[in-house]
Amino acid sequence: MKIRVLGSAAGGGFPQWNCNCPNCKGYRAGTLQTRARTQSSIAVGTGSSWALVNASPDVLAQLQSNPDLQPGRAIRDSAITAIVLVDGQVDHTTGLYMLRESVRPWPLWCTDSTFADLTRGNPVLGVLSFFCGVDRRRIDPDGSAFAIDAVPGVRWHALPVASKPAPYSPNRESPMPGDNLALVIEDAESGRSVVYAPGLSAIDDRLWRAMQGAACVLVDGTFWTDDEMIRLGISAKRARDIGHLPQSGAGGMLEWLARLPAATRKILIHINNTNPILNETSAEAAELARRGVEVARDGMEIAV
Ligand code: MLT
Ligand code: MN
Ligand code: ZN
Repeated sequence: MKIRVLGSAAGGGFPQWNCNCPNCKGYRAGTLQTRARTQSSIAVGTGSSWALVNASPDVLAQLQSNPDLQPGRAIRDSAITAIVLVDGQVDHTTGLYMLRESVRPWPLWCTDSTFADLTRGNPVLGVLSFFCGVDRRRIDPDGSAFAIDAVPGVRWHALPVASKPAPYSPNRESPMPGDNLALVIEDAESGRSVVYAPGLSAIDDRLWRAMQGAACVLVDGTFWTDDEMIRLGISAKRARDIGHLPQSGAGGMLEWLARLPAATRKILIHINNTNPILNETSAEAAELARRGVEVARDGMEIAV
């Protein structure tokens, strides 16, 4: 099974168009050792068919950067044969508009609460019904195994995670199971798995067990510190307030990752443009290297 990182940044991407934080500014000035990153998405497959997990606003650029996802077998074609959503946030769903030329309705896997958000607060699926439409498949956020027929060889499990649904969700201030998911993505033949959780503010027993059993964890790398946006004068909100567990500090992601087996591949993904780990010569990047924690990059491929 292969996981291709199409976009490794959080909402806004890196650099973000209107941001002058040290990272975005340094990128533009060419003074920072770093690389640009597009917004959050991965592709999962075992052969020539791939599931697009999250439809980023940058999906068209991502497909252009991954030419093997266009096998050219017919006048209209794509190696992407299904779409899976972990939430209904803007950075994970806006790409659905860009995929409207599909010659068939998109098999679209999401929970009931994400489906509700995408037909009410942000009615993108209603708009899509005027184009290719979707063939909606229900994800139960209960950990039970499901298969996506259009993407053979992969077994999926969805676990509810503590995070935040989109601002247009009626559940924004009181999240419900199913608003945000971690996906356990398993190679059906080998049983080896990857845990993918780009947004989580806490790790419960069930998710922790899945992480301990995984060959690779691809987890929330949004913020280094809880007050990162406050310190930069960008927002009054803490990382945890908007559904993201910071890496540093007590109970932070690095403490969790340190308790995983040494053989587990540990990768941070969904990285906000303010995060100092994007600066490859920063003390924070050095600390990750010391701990054996990787920072996802666009185009990275993980074979499991
Ligand atoms: C989030 O995960 O908090 C999002 O990236 C927010 C957004 O899309 O603006
Ligand atoms: Mn996001
Ligand atoms: Zn920035």
